[in-house]
Amino acid sequence: MDLQLTGKTALILAASKGLGKACAAALVAEGADVIIGARDKQTLEATATQLRSLGKGRVLALPVDVTNAQQVADMVNTAATTFGKIDILVNNAGGPPFGKFETFDDTAWQSAFDLTLLSAVRFSRLVVPHMRPTGSGRIINIVSLTVKTWMPDSVLSTSLRLGVIGMAKMLSVELGPDKITVNNIAPGMILTDRLRHMLASGSPELSIEEKQAQRTKDVPLGRMGKPEELGALVAFLASPLAGYISGATIPVDGGAIKATF
Ligand SMILES: NC(=O)c1ccc[n+]([C@@H]2O[C@H](COP(=O)([O-])OP(=O)(O)OC[C@H]3O[C@@H](n4cnc5c(N)ncnc54)[C@H](OP(=O)(O)O)[C@@H]3O)[C@@H](O)[C@H]2O)c1
Repeated sequence: MDLQLTGKTALILAASKGLGKACAAALVAEGADVIIGARDKQTLEATATQLRSLGKGRVLALPVDVTNAQQVADMVNTAATTFGKIDILVNNAGGPPFGKFETFDDTAWQSAFDLTLLSAVRFSRLVVPHMRPTGSGRIINIVSLTVKTWMPDSVLSTSLRLGVIGMAKMLSVELGPDKITVNNIAPGMILTDRLRHMLASGSPELSIEEKQAQRTKDVPLGRMGKPEELGALVAFLASPLAGYISGATIPVDGGAIKATF
């Protein structure tokens, strides 16, 4: 299936590693030009080199902290100036810390808000004017399965990602006339560095494989996901073929969400 992404320009945040990198790889492999952002310049450049070796779309690496308003604005301006337009935005960021409600003070809530919700608000607001003249557009937010099912110690993530879902729904309504679609992807357990670090900490008596098996015992597909399995969905949602999907939240979780709808 040709996803018709050749010549499209995609801005992908938190893309030096993990899910963001997998999204960028899927889009580049389909011929899109990508602009990737993350804070650490060295890791970002190394990722850009790997993506270029796929030999399809062009790759521009721009260091950015998605919580910094000036850096966000500079990144969007540079991306739009370099490629002349932005067709696709993938909002993604590092996750907020885990912990119980009573352990988080105002500062922790403010940081989580800046990282998880305000970053997506800012990028969306700045990118839409560059999408509108193209006559279409795709905004895809990476959230978490916590928007559809509860998970222990995830109060920051759950609260603020539900804000992203609300923003996306309203944007999908307001941008529908411009043929800009807005969707969310809710990953379950996908084996990235973030998950590897979690598995490496605690229960030293268990091997990584045993810890994975323990954590996935309630996942119907019986395993953790691969980043490229999420990247493939992003490539489809970003494509013209997904032009009638908007305002949706789609899980990539091996069936882990317990809700029936
Ligand atoms: N993997 C999963 O199973 C899973 C499940 C549910 C939800 N999620 C969510 O999906 C998102 C991505 O997770 P992941 O597993 O891909 O994590 P990861 O492998 O740890 O990668 C995180 C990426 O985010 C970048 N980043 C972090 N803070 C940033 C900031 N302030 N500005 C710009 N870039 C930043 C990191 O680069 P720098 O550190 O260099 O900036 C890195 O590229 C997180 O929000 C996570 O909570 C993941």
